[in-house]
Amino acid sequence: MTTHHIEMATLLRKCCGLMQLVHRRTFAYKPVKRPSLIKEGGKSSRSEPNAESLDLATILQTKIKAAGPISLADYMRNVLTNPNGGYYMERDVFGEGGDFITSPEVAQIFGELIAVWCLTEWRKIGSPSPVQLIELGPGRGTLSRDILRVFSQFKLGDQFSLHLVEVSPYLSKVQAQQLCFNHSEVDPESNEPFYRQGETVSGAKVFWYHKLEDVPKEFSIVLAHEFFDALPVHKMQYDKGLWREVMVDVDPSEEKKFRFVLSNNQTVMSKVFQPLEGESRETLEYSLEADAIIQRLAHWFEFHGGFALIIDYGHLGDKSDTFRAFKQHKLHDPLLNPGAADLTADVDFKRLKFVAEANGCLTFGPVSQQEFLKRMEAEARLKVLLEKAQPEAHEALKSGYDMLTHPDKMGSRFKFLSIFPQVLKEHLKKFPVNGFS
Ligand SMILES: C[S@@+](CC[C@H](N)C(=O)[O-])C[C@H]1O[C@@H](n2cnc3c(N)ncnc32)[C@H](O)[C@@H]1O
Repeated sequence: MTTHHIEMATLLRKCCGLMQLVHRRTFAYKPVKRPSLIKEGGKSSRSEPNAESLDLATILQTKIKAAGPISLADYMRNVLTNPNGGYYMERDVFGEGGDFITSPEVAQIFGELIAVWCLTEWRKIGSPSPVQLIELGPGRGTLSRDILRVFSQFKLGDQFSLHLVEVSPYLSKVQAQQLCFNHSEVDPESNEPFYRQGETVSGAKVFWYHKLEDVPKEFSIVLAHEFFDALPVHKMQYDKGLWREVMVDVDPSEEKKFRFVLSNNQTVMSKVFQPLEGESRETLEYSLEADAIIQRLAHWFEFHGGFALIIDYGHLGDKSDTFRAFKQHKLHDPLLNPGAADLTADVDFKRLKFVAEANGCLTFGPVSQQEFLKRMEAEARLKVLLEKAQPEAHEALKSGYDMLTHPDKMGSRFKFLSIFPQVLKEHLKKFPVNGFS
């Protein structure tokens, strides 16, 4: 055992000793891409899209009729984040009454182990201060809440500030209610880069931004859980020696329905798209936004310091057709009634690694969620939680753990990738990044 393994073990032990069961999260998991959590015979409590979200189909159809088919990335961006009826913009889409469940929502052990990982890696490099915790796409704010709770148990609550990059005004309010004892919107006329601010009970300051670019350039630990899969992708097709783009057009056969068409001419994207060396797929999904964010992080870590943990479902550059929609925990037609269902595409981890490394960073992983959590001693943590919990809570704890780690459930589908600056190369050889080896 190295000193840092001992340190992690100590952190875990302390964390186990200090933590209580905060809440029970009882969900069933079905081994589909995202599980169905609706009870048999039960109904989702989620309301149907309102008139505004129905308008989104009309807006997109009008645009296409006027100017021709749009890229899948344009379609996806509008469907998810258009202020006028975009999927994430005005409702809570998570959990039993929503469309899907994510790991932080399944069980608190997930966020707690991520917190221990952040602390171990931060301490390993000398606890640089001040430090910002940045979460991209925080959903309900559950992961950040579980992490801050661990930080405050280590009396670190006020050493960290929390910076949330969230496009949805509705979800930013949900996050503020989860995380802060006071919070307020910031006057858009002010020159502040953030649009909301607040403070947690342990004194940590919290800020909300529309874009990563707006976050202050300080040493940062960056987390992205199920964020990259929500970024728009272009659908590319190799045809007669050229890359062409598959576009989204109006489907005249049905109201609010769209269809894929192959672009007649090369689009701007198909001209600038650079496949990785050795690419053998004839169709693939490409996210320019994911590339840009990784590039930004790489430069950030080089000039201001920090590291990142990216957690998502994805592949190693070998899948072609993963774009899909989920509604009430079931697969849904992604080209029907935009705004009514979540759109997602598997993350291309090979590409993320390539971009990070090409921009001077070190990458570790991806490793499966099962491997990562096992190496973070999730089982020991579960044991302590079971010892402390009332017998009636045991079933929920065990099933949450099983859902997170079982290879047929979330254990192998979800992957962890970490990014560190090149300058730490020798240090990390001596003290390897936890969870990855
Ligand atoms: C699939 S949810 C994941 C939520 C959370 N991380 C979790 O795992 O429970 C995606 C989150 O990213 C946000 N989001 C989607 N696209 C975004 C964008 N372009 N910029 C910032 N946030 C975005 C959504 O509003 C939502 O909070």
